[in-house]
Amino acid sequence: MRTPAAVEAFAPWLSAEGLASVYDPAAVGRARAYASDGSVLRLDVDVVDSEFLAVDGEVAGSGARLYRTSVSIELDRGRAVVTADCSCPVGWECKHGAALLLCLGRSLTTDHPDPGTPTDDGSAGHHGFITDLLDGRSPDRLYSCGPEPMLVKALAWALANGVPAELCLERYMACGVGLCGVCTIDRDLVCQDGPVLSSERLAQSAEFGKVVREAGGIVRHTPA
Ligand code: FES
Ligand SMILES: [Zn+2]
Repeated sequence: MRTPAAVEAFAPWLSAEGLASVYDPAAVGRARAYASDGSVLRLDVDVVDSEFLAVDGEVAGSGARLYRTSVSIELDRGRAVVTADCSCPVGWECKHGAALLLCLGRSLTTDHPDPGTPTDDGSAGHHGFITDLLDGRSPDRLYSCGPEPMLVKALAWALANGVPAELCLERYMACGVGLCGVCTIDRDLVCQDGPVLSSERLAQSAEFGKVVREAGGIVRHTPA
C-alpha cells in the first residue's frame, strides 16, 4: 500500500500510545498483535484530508473469522474524534479497528519495499529490472509474483541480501487437485503445495527457472 502523504497529520493517533486515549488497553494490546502477525488482510485509505481520515479493511479474527472494519478520525482543534464500525460482535471501538490504525501508522515509518516503476524498454520509470530498484533497501520480507525469470532474479536478490522471500509460481495446471502432475516442480505440486513457495524451498530447487511442463506434461527446458 502506498500511504497518502496527508495521513502524516494523523500520525499521533496511529500509534499504540495515541490509541490508548481512545481504546481500552486490552483492545490496544490485541490490536498490536494483529498488526504484527499479518491478521490485517486489507487496508484502504478511503478519504483523507487535513481534518478527516477514513480507512476500511478486513481483519482475520479468532476462529478463522474475517471481519470488515472501518474507522474514521476527525480532527477538531487538535482533538481527535474516532468513529469505528466492525462486523465483529463488539461492533465499534474494537481491536480490529485499532489494528487497522496501527498498521496505517506503521506504514508511515516503515522503509517501504515499494520500489517504484520499472519498464523493460524505459518507456516509464526505471529502464531495467525491478530488482535493480531493490538494491540499498532492507525489507523484512520480499513477496513477488509474475513471470518465472523475474522470480528467479527476485530469489537471487533475496538470498544475496539475507531477506526471506515468498514467491508465487505460475505453472500450467490441468486438474488443479493434485492428480495430473503437470504442475510439478521437483517433488512438489504447485497446485497443492503452492502456488506460494518460500525462498528456502526454492533455493534447493533443481527445476525453478530451468524446467516447466506444458499441456500434456511435456517438459520444456527454459533458457538460462
Ligand atoms: S494441476 Fe494437476 S496436479 Fe497440479
Ligand atoms: Zn471488530
